[in-house]
Amino acid sequence: MEQNTERKKVIFSGIQPTGVFTLGNYLGAIKNWKELQEDYNCIFSVVDLHAITVRQDPAALRKQTLDSVALLLASGIDPQKSVLFMQSHNSAHAELSWVLSCYTQFGELSRMTQFKDKSQRHADNINAGLFTYPVLMAADILLYKTDLVPVGVDQKQHLELARNIAERFNGVYGNVFTVPEPYIPKISAKVMSLADPEKKMSKSDENINGFISLLDDRDTIIRKFKRAVTDSDTCVRYAEGKSGINNLMSIYSSVSGKDFAAIEKEFEGKGYGDFKLCVGECVADALAPIREEFAKLSKDKAYLMSVCSEGAQFARRLSRRTLEKVYHKVGFVKAEN
Ligand code: TYM
Repeated sequence: MEQNTERKKVIFSGIQPTGVFTLGNYLGAIKNWKELQEDYNCIFSVVDLHAITVRQDPAALRKQTLDSVALLLASGIDPQKSVLFMQSHNSAHAELSWVLSCYTQFGELSRMTQFKDKSQRHADNINAGLFTYPVLMAADILLYKTDLVPVGVDQKQHLELARNIAERFNGVYGNVFTVPEPYIPKISAKVMSLADPEKKMSKSDENINGFISLLDDRDTIIRKFKRAVTDSDTCVRYAEGKSGINNLMSIYSSVSGKDFAAIEKEFEGKGYGDFKLCVGECVADALAPIREEFAKLSKDKAYLMSVCSEGAQFARRLSRRTLEKVYHKVGFVKAEN
């Protein structure tokens, strides 16, 4: 990445390596990352530290982390333009997270809806990391003087907390942190499950028909769209109470670039069957090049590691300044070696 941090605004975002990314991850986040890297200084991280808040198989996590890097590159993240690294390769994240946890209230963390959801789903493992997860996320963002954080809407509450922590810390110690703004897409900020359009599309869904994985083949994608749950109406239009169709229209709009009015016109007089097939084909066409590129890249571990090593070096360099400032502000004695 060019070192013109002074002029361009800084973008940071992360993604958990807990499985193959879904169409939700792609439309809610990754697609925007790709577009933003043209105009901003972008830093993207595969957040393996976050992933272990839920029990992971170590060998599988290692593979998924490398695959995640390959998938981001295949999706268009360009290491010449953006910094890409594995979160555990920069220890500053864990270090700042500890400091910030001393400036975060128990009550604030208790209100996080993701914590409530996940502790219900993993009732046998409600660990402290699951609870303090948003503090680590705040550290990720604040380390890099981030201006903008491109995420799906499910991360909005975490981002608001990061802003509150930054403002609180700045209130005590002066201007240490940049207070970040969320960057949430207008369409597809929350892609819903194809099997249950009241639920978010998620890679951890037990029902594989609910989500499109970025590595699903063409036939699978089309089959899943054909089976997508809709309603008893027959007319393709965006309206209250039509969550299944609204979701398909949003997906189609994000992928094709057509607005809702154009889509409604395109399917005037046609049924849901035609519409679902068309959305399926459009998504399959969009994902095919990603799958092909992934097949090549995922075999080249040396290349993936070289991208991440360079990314981590850059990330360490950038974040060291923030961490040193924070350590000084809170009253730690500077190490002499
Ligand atoms: P994660 O790994 O769950 O998801 C990565 C990104 O994908 C978005 N996303 C969606 N967008 C639209 N519709 C969906 N169905 C959908 N599912 C997921 C998420 O909003 C996210 O942008 N805590 C974060 C990772 C993280 C992070 C950060 C993000 C760690 N540190 C710092 C930003 C900044 C997470 O679990 O995302």
